[in-house]
Amino acid sequence: MFKWKDEFSVNIEAIDRQHQELFKIGNSLYEIISIKDGVDRYDEVVEILHRLMDYAKYHFDFEEKMMEENGYPKLQNHKRQHDSFIQKVKSIDEKDIDEKQRTIGMDLIIFIANWIENHILKTDMEYKEFMNDKGIY
Ligand SMILES: [Fe+2]
Ligand SMILES: [Fe+2]
Repeated sequence: MFKWKDEFSVNIEAIDRQHQELFKIGNSLYEIISIKDGVDRYDEVVEILHRLMDYAKYHFDFEEKMMEENGYPKLQNHKRQHDSFIQKVKSIDEKDIDEKQRTIGMDLIIFIANWIENHILKTDMEYKEFMNDKGIY
């Protein structure tokens, strides 16, 4: 589901590491939801989901600070994308995960995986050259 590829690299070590960590947490979530033994794992699913959101927020803050400090011209639009992702995931009713654990969980994880992948490949990639030119690797 969350597979790291070289094309995801923005050529900035700290950011690549954080993106990989996001993939790692995403994979734990995927693994839990994929288990088909009928055991209720609601608490675990919500716990990992919260961990993912906390880490995403940490990573977004880190990126935004880097962009701000370096006068990156597309900061506002980039920040808007981060904010709307957080809003969207926050708006998911955790009770729905409880009742229809697998379907909602899978839909959610597919959304998260697609969003992260697209965001890195399009939006994050846009600052790669800009930051590298400033000596940030
Ligand atoms: Fe970003
Ligand atoms: Fe990012």
